Amino acid sequence: MATRNLLITALSVLGAVAPAASTSTFSPLRPPAIPLAVRSPYLSTWLNGDSGGILPGSWPHFWADEITGWQGFIRVDNVTYNWMGGAPGPSPVNQTSFEYTSTKSIFTFDVDGKVTLTATFLSPIHPNDLVRQSMQFSYLQAAVESSDGAAHDVQIYSDVSGEWASSDASNTINWSNGLNDGVAYHKFALSQPTVFSEESDMAKWGDWYFATDANSGVTYRTGYPDTDTRTQFINNGRLDNQIDASYRAISDSWPVFAFAQDFGSVLTEEDVVFTIGLAQEQVINFQGNSTNPEALTALWSTVYSSAEDCLAAFHNNWDVEMHDASILDSKIHNDAYDAGGQNYVSLTTLAVRQAFGSLQVAHGTRQNYIFLKEISSDGDIQTVDVIFPAHPIFLYLNPEMLRLLLDPLYENQESGHYPNPWSIHDLGFFPNAVGYPNGNDEAMPVEECGNMIIMTLAYALRSGNHGYLMQHWPLLDQWAQFLVNDSLIPDYQLSTDDFAGALANQTNLALKGIIGVRAMAEVAGLSGIVNANQISTQYLNTSTQYINKWTTLGVNNASNPPHTTLAYNEPDSHGLLYNIYADKLLGLNFVPEWVYSMQSNFYSTILGDFGLPLDTRHDWAKSDWQVFAAAVAKTDVQDAMLERLVNFVEGTPTTRPLTDLYDVTTGEFATGGPTFINRPVVGGFFALLALPN
Ligand SMILES: *[C@@H]1O[C@H](CO)[C@@H](O)[C@H](O)[C@H]1NC(C)=O
Ligand SMILES: *[C@@H]1O[C@H](CO)[C@@H](O)[C@H](O)[C@H]1NC(C)=O
Ligand SMILES: *[C@@H]1O[C@H](CO)[C@@H](O)[C@H](O)[C@H]1NC(C)=O
Ligand SMILES: *[C@@H]1O[C@H](CO)[C@@H](O)[C@H](O)[C@H]1NC(C)=O
Ligand SMILES: *[C@@H]1O[C@H](CO)[C@@H](O)[C@H](O)[C@H]1NC(C)=O
Ligand SMILES: *[C@@H]1O[C@H](CO)[C@@H](O)[C@H](O)[C@H]1NC(C)=O
Ligand SMILES: *[C@@H]1O[C@H](CO)[C@@H](O)[C@H](O)[C@H]1NC(C)=O
Ligand SMILES: *[C@@H]1O[C@H](CO)[C@@H](O)[C@H](O)[C@H]1NC(C)=O
Repeated sequence: MATRNLLITALSVLGAVAPAASTSTFSPLRPPAIPLAVRSPYLSTWLNGDSGGILPGSWPHFWADEITGWQGFIRVDNVTYNWMGGAPGPSPVNQTSFEYTSTKSIFTFDVDGKVTLTATFLSPIHPNDLVRQSMQFSYLQAAVESSDGAAHDVQIYSDVSGEWASSDASNTINWSNGLNDGVAYHKFALSQPTVFSEESDMAKWGDWYFATDANSGVTYRTGYPDTDTRTQFINNGRLDNQIDASYRAISDSWPVFAFAQDFGSVLTEEDVVFTIGLAQEQVINFQGNSTNPEALTALWSTVYSSAEDCLAAFHNNWDVEMHDASILDSKIHNDAYDAGGQNYVSLTTLAVRQAFGSLQVAHGTRQNYIFLKEISSDGDIQTVDVIFPAHPIFLYLNPEMLRLLLDPLYENQESGHYPNPWSIHDLGFFPNAVGYPNGNDEAMPVEECGNMIIMTLAYALRSGNHGYLMQHWPLLDQWAQFLVNDSLIPDYQLSTDDFAGALANQTNLALKGIIGVRAMAEVAGLSGIVNANQISTQYLNTSTQYINKWTTLGVNNASNPPHTTLAYNEPDSHGLLYNIYADKLLGLNFVPEWVYSMQSNFYSTILGDFGLPLDTRHDWAKSDWQVFAAAVAKTDVQDAMLERLVNFVEGTPTTRPLTDLYDVTTGEFATGGPTFINRPVVGGFFALLALPN
């Protein structure tokens, strides 16, 4: 197949650059970029695909492509090798395998036939423990053992550069080091921070930490020039425990923050664990039910009295975190395998860190919240039509996470900070969730009203919290009235696929609105409001009339095979009917079954090597919406769609954290469209697992 040839060519080209490439296996596949430390919008470091998936020899990058210097050396019997990073000098170890799970990226290396080195990057996921989810820290474990039966002297080295603290290397940083609860740490930060402010998507405030166990084999060096510190390790296998007090710019002879661990003579496994991350006391600026925006604190700050205590608690919890991560990894693996086979495992497990890496957990005076960054498409915060494609992962892992994502939207609008009769689109630019008191947000009226109603009911059904429907009834009812007005014949407007332009009478958008109206019959019935039965009957009646009309307006029965259209009165157009998914998600069984089978049959006639096109306007495809559509397709069509999506993930020439928008024929970023990277919408890969049993 063309796909495979493309892949082999890509690998052999990369093989010429990195000779070790051909020796490493990749399981379950080699992603476009490999997550290394991915826990929040600001702790998001990856190994880009131009490395060929080989850890030594390339610098890790922040998702937005800035280098985040992170170097690893291993010294075996006085000879030093490079196992991570782009520093010149020592020759690279040979990577033999790479494997990813939902929470881990695991690299294995052969060091000169003497030692096996395993580097495990663990970014924990905590759907049921938001305090732990709120800690912007990630682990790296380096484990060594003899591979030839002989004992070898082994030392491990790792450093990070000031590049983690700013996208502008001319900025000055200052630093210190310390010891807390058995944890040795380096700390560095911008000398002139600005809270709630970003530069090229990196935070301009907060303290960065790089830490390890303070045992007798550890030495360190803080703030000296990179080459100086690395040479010290290469020559001696240890560092001199000194700090360079001349604070300077990130690029001014590149200050690095380094540890070395001397294992002495190694036969059986020994390991060292490092923690990298960011502590910000204040995380989100939120306009909720108060006169002015409030600075919300990090949730961990309600438990730990200092960032150093939080860091030590995180670092010392490695064993527990590994254990918990393995349980979660197995659960996701097994559930995904049962729902959709190995291809579905490959997709879902790759999506977990990317989806959770968009989140920030915050503590307010009234309650806790979860905020989401619309990464890369424009940095909005709490975008309703980005939460919507992502929301299956939250419904599956813990529906309360979905409530905590919806709460800021409800609170802002219910306290009178938004004037329009339809749902708000987002709350501003991350991390400033200040809303739109003048109502001048990007308008997607039918899209967002439908999304809010569908997600609110899905949450209430999965959690059993029907009181939530009563609590938000006035706004839900208002949005439903808007849908009654504008869903059957939607005005010229944007849908969530705004990059494709505005359009009147969008068939798929209309279906979302109509399902929203139908969902309100359930919302009314469950909410316990006055006259619930009567109101429920009314919504049922309206939606039934609408769906009957929709099946004539939005379907081309004359074509062979028949299909729904992109827009009414454009019989030759077609588009992915992903909004039908909500009908099954909510257990409504409202859309006639023939529509489902008609679409399955049609999809199988237009399925390409890299999947299904989004619609007839462009050659573009959306991975998240394809999984929504696959989730409710016939089994054989579902299997084929998932297989082609895996082809795309493996075969795309893109080398950045997985895009959700691509050219369906080449797998490249969408030609003539925006470049989407690392967006949380891949949470939608969990669409099969979010369906009711
Ligand atoms: C490593 O260097 C030390 C100090 O020079 C020396 O004592 C030792 O024998 C060397 N080890 C090996 C395996 O060459
Ligand atoms: C890597 O493998 C090549 C080819 O087998 C070998 O020549 C080289 O010494 C190996 N390097 C290390 C560090 O193991
Ligand atoms: C940087 O310097 C400021 C001012 O002296 C100090 O408050 C801050 O703690 C220092 N930051 C680090 C990481 O050492
Ligand atoms: C806003 O706060 C006031 C005072 O605590 C309370 O009465 C009201 O219910 C709150 N409204 C919302 C939407 O939270
Ligand atoms: C729906 O349309 C009616 C009649 O035009 C109008 O009075 C009402 O304000 C509209 N409701 C919403 C929520 O847009
Ligand atoms: C939308 O579709 C309706 C029903 O077919 C039609 O009456 C109306 O003219 C269409 N609007 C536009 C802008 O095409
Ligand atoms: C449903 O709506 C139609 C048209 O408005 C009306 O004739 C019918 O009586 C309604 N049915 C119910 C059960 O409310
Ligand atoms: C298309 O066919 C279905 C099922 O045969 C039918 O219910 C629907 O009304 C038809 N639509 C049109 C536009 O003819």
